[in-house]
Amino acid sequence: MAPRDPRDRLIVALDVDTPAQADRLVERLEGPVRHFKIGSQLFTAAGPAAVEAVQKRGAEVFLDLKFHDIPNTVAGAAREATRLGVFMFNVHASGGRAMMKAAADGAAVAARELAVRRPLVVAVTVLTSLDRVALHREVGIASSVEGHVLHLAELARDAGLDGTVASPNEIAAVRRSLGPGWVIVTPGVRPAGSAADDQSRIATPEAAARAGAHYLVVGRPITGAPDPAKAAAAVLAEMAA
Ligand code: C5P
Repeated sequence: MAPRDPRDRLIVALDVDTPAQADRLVERLEGPVRHFKIGSQLFTAAGPAAVEAVQKRGAEVFLDLKFHDIPNTVAGAAREATRLGVFMFNVHASGGRAMMKAAADGAAVAARELAVRRPLVVAVTVLTSLDRVALHREVGIASSVEGHVLHLAELARDAGLDGTVASPNEIAAVRRSLGPGWVIVTPGVRPAGSAADDQSRIATPEAAARAGAHYLVVGRPITGAPDPAKAAAAVLAEMAA
């Protein structure tokens, strides 16, 4: 089941390109916000130092690098993510069962050897930027987006993963088919009355939390707000509603 305290469920996306910008945001948000997402932009710019800077302020990191490679390489990346001490990282489910199992096993073995906590390993199923037409004509998958999302989520579970990233539209179906213990991480969250930006499938914090997301990923509505701490407090209040 999802944690009860909204502060254990909110992840703020640090989509900035310098460690200084990231650190300023973490400093303004620390306390009420305990989890931050570091993705390919900031990690490519600043590397592990970006992760360590967040951890130094006592917050947790979700490393969003969406690993997708041969199993041996992904196992190595999982090992390094575990060494970094992130609480969660992700892989592409379309890398297949052996690749996902290598990620899960790599993290578990490294955690044992290094005597650190095993990070949660979650899968990205179908990128929300792909609609049914692109999925079919470009990627060569004939099933519906939802059908393929569920197929890949079940494959991820069979491979030993902990959960999947799911858009607000997919939460209910994934929760129904994968059960209460499955970790669902949901981006595309927009507080009531805020701009959608480039997100097409959105939900309010209250709706996403109620539909069964464990973790809500929120970026620009908080990081782009004139007062990020105030915006984060409003999101937390909506989640608690
Ligand atoms: O600024 P915003 O709230 O849209 O940020 C959402 C974050 O979640 C971004 O870092 C984005 O890359 C990520 N994400 C997403 N949709 C997905 C997967 C990840 O928006 N399907």
